[in-house]
Amino acid sequence: MKVTVVGAGAVGASCAEYIAIKNFASEVVLLDIKEGYAEGKAMDLMQTASLNGFDTKITGTTSDYSKTAGSHIAVITSGIPRKPGMTREELIGINAGIVKTVSQSLLEHSPDAILIVVSNPMDTMTYLVHKTTNLPKHKIIGMGGALDSARFKYRLAEAMEAPISDIDGMVIGGHSDKGMVPLTSHATRNSIRVSEFLSENRLQQVAEDTKVGGATLTKLLGTSAWYAPGAAVSGLVQAIACDQKKMFPCSTFLEGEYGLNDICIGVPVILGKNGIERIVDVPLSNAEKAKMKESAEGVAKTNGLLEL
Ligand code: LAC
Repeated sequence: MKVTVVGAGAVGASCAEYIAIKNFASEVVLLDIKEGYAEGKAMDLMQTASLNGFDTKITGTTSDYSKTAGSHIAVITSGIPRKPGMTREELIGINAGIVKTVSQSLLEHSPDAILIVVSNPMDTMTYLVHKTTNLPKHKIIGMGGALDSARFKYRLAEAMEAPISDIDGMVIGGHSDKGMVPLTSHATRNSIRVSEFLSENRLQQVAEDTKVGGATLTKLLGTSAWYAPGAAVSGLVQAIACDQKKMFPCSTFLEGEYGLNDICIGVPVILGKNGIERIVDVPLSNAEKAKMKESAEGVAKTNGLLEL
């Protein structure tokens, strides 16, 4: 199983590291446009192999897509990250051109690859890949919901003073500060609804903290986060590589599901060897439906800025 990660910045390198540590892929290729950078990150990571106990071979290349040939899965993290005070949507101008070129270069050498889009604004970049490549929709996956759900579980555990392993919950909708829809009514602690443990106000605070999870970190770090994004990507890659049929919220092209059309947005999907094996239509409350509709309007507005 060969996996390519385009962009050897903090998010890309973190993806490669978590994929390697989980030890299911034979090869990870890191590619970056900055001379020697991916090679350096790959070498540094390889020098952790004996320490962390993995056999995945990590190599780096400066823009040589022929080295990525035959990849089963390719992750696109390239583009600029946001700075404090910026929204993900503000990155569209620069990142759209990059994501379009990168996806085409990847598919020239790995026409059968499944693409995972991480670059922001992620839902719109996923839509761009959908519109500008001939890949079937089940092979184009936007990574946002898996990360946002991990942040949701972190906030729920914090609020309940509970271990995170007790918590289950999902965030659907757009991967944006305003567009995320944390499914608070479905979240549980060991199968008991979290509303049994937290007041309505506290739950609402958890939802708000979740939605600005990325912005909070960007303010603290001066750039966007990388550990949780990298770990979330590695989870999706593993689910596909190992045909796990696991459910994650991912951005995918919708044709009527959730009452939405011609848009890529986060909804629960089953991930297996074919990429998105199925979209799961979960029943939403009226309030959640309204939030999802509003979120889709925001994503569609950003999509409107694309020059397709
Ligand atoms: C974040 C970026 C990856 O939410 O969108 O941290």
